[in-house]
Amino acid sequence: MKIAAFIGSPRPDGVTDAVVRQVLCGADDKGADSAVFHIGLLHIMGCHACMKCRKTGVCVLDDDMKPLFEELIEADCIILGTPIYFYYMTAQMKAFTDRLFSLIGEGFKSRLGRKKTVFVVTQGADDPDLFSSQIESMKKAWGMAGLDIIETVHVCALENAEGVMEDEELMKRAFMAGQDLCR
Ligand SMILES: Cc1cc2nc3c(=O)[nH]c(=O)nc-3n(C[C@H](O)[C@H](O)[C@H](O)COP(=O)(O)O)c2cc1C
Repeated sequence: MKIAAFIGSPRPDGVTDAVVRQVLCGADDKGADSAVFHIGLLHIMGCHACMKCRKTGVCVLDDDMKPLFEELIEADCIILGTPIYFYYMTAQMKAFTDRLFSLIGEGFKSRLGRKKTVFVVTQGADDPDLFSSQIESMKKAWGMAGLDIIETVHVCALENAEGVMEDEELMKRAFMAGQDLCR
């Protein structure tokens, strides 16, 4: 079982990374072969709306997204992680998401097929309901591209990776989400 994790935070050692890595621990425990991509550190342009992919299924833009399409196609399951920035996903994660347009074919059928996906979302605010509608809309957007969110690990008000590791309940939940991905 091959798992590809895409993290939209620009902080490679931040809260989102720590939680995603714990999800991967759960998956690795079930024998998964995993890879992590920090899209927050890559150069990924927004979609240019040239519409060439409507015919070819291939994005014409030549940037760091190119190898990620291969990773998305080859992976059996996916993990998506993003912090909330100004009430939505980070700009880097939004650029990645818009570029998934090239994977959506005739009749909105995804060229990826359907892939089980765990979603890790982190936020500074301590109210877990504050971004409910935004989180639902992110799930719908990824669902259009064939990424079906089977579980959301939602983390509020943790400042750093140490805070994640000290939170036993969260560590257990994230580990179980990784195990569920492999079932
Ligand atoms: C530019 C920016 C915008 C943010 N906007 C929000 C926000 O709208 N709501 C919120 O609760 N937290 C917000 N945060 C806090 C982050 O979501 C939070 O600290 C998150 O856990 C960071 O994850 P990371 O450590 O993986 O980067 C923002 C942080 C930054 C840097």
